[in-house]
Amino acid sequence: MEAIRSIAIPPLTPDLERVLIDADTIQRRVTELANQINNDYANITEPLILVGVLKGSFIYLADLCRKLTVPHVVDFIAVSSYGKGSETTGNVRLLMDTRENMENHHVLIVEDILDTGYTLDYLVRNFIARGTKSVNTTVLLEKPDRHKVHVDLKYVGFTIPDVWVVGFGLDYGEQYRTLPYIAEMKIPKKK
Ligand code: PRP
Repeated sequence: MEAIRSIAIPPLTPDLERVLIDADTIQRRVTELANQINNDYANITEPLILVGVLKGSFIYLADLCRKLTVPHVVDFIAVSSYGKGSETTGNVRLLMDTRENMENHHVLIVEDILDTGYTLDYLVRNFIARGTKSVNTTVLLEKPDRHKVHVDLKYVGFTIPDVWVVGFGLDYGEQYRTLPYIAEMKIPKKK
C-alpha cells in the first residue's frame, strides 16, 4: 500500500526541453492564490461561481477549488479560437455554455494560460452582460510578450516567457496535459 501513495513524477520525454515550473512550486503557488481568494471573498452571501475554461483549466481548477474554504460551485465553459492550428484566429467561438445562471453572482473565471488575451476578454465581456455581481479572473500562467488585448488579471500564478509550454492542463496536440509540472517544448512552434 505504501507504494500506491507515492506519486511518480513522469520524466521528460525527448520532445521536452526542460521543466519550467516544477510540481511543488505549482502547488505552493496554487495554495497562495487560494488563500488570497478565500480572503477576498470571505464575506460573500452566495456561492462564488468558478468557471473553468475547457479544456486547459481542468487541472488548475481541480487543485484550486480543493483549497478554497469560501462557498463555491464549479462550472465549465468551452470556447475555441485556435482551431487545429497553433495561431489564434482571434475569433472566439462558444462551444459549450455554463449550466449555472450567473445573474447576481460573483464569478471567477479560471484559465490555464493567458496568451493573446482574446479568450478571457471575450469571456469577461460575455459574463458581465449576463448581469453578474462581479467577474474576476485567475490564470496559472501568463505570457506578457504575447498580449494583444488588455485583460484585468486578478490572480496570476506565474509570468512566463514566450515559449511553448505543456503540462498541468496545457497540451500539444492533446498530449502532455496530465504532466504534474509545466515543461517547455523543444519544438520552435510558439502560441
Ligand atoms: C488555450 C488556453 C486558453 C487560451 C488562451 O486554449 O487554454 O483558453 O488558449 O489563449 P489566448 O489568450 O490567446 O486567447 P486552447 O484554445 O488551446 O484550447 P484547450 O484549452 O482546449 O487546450
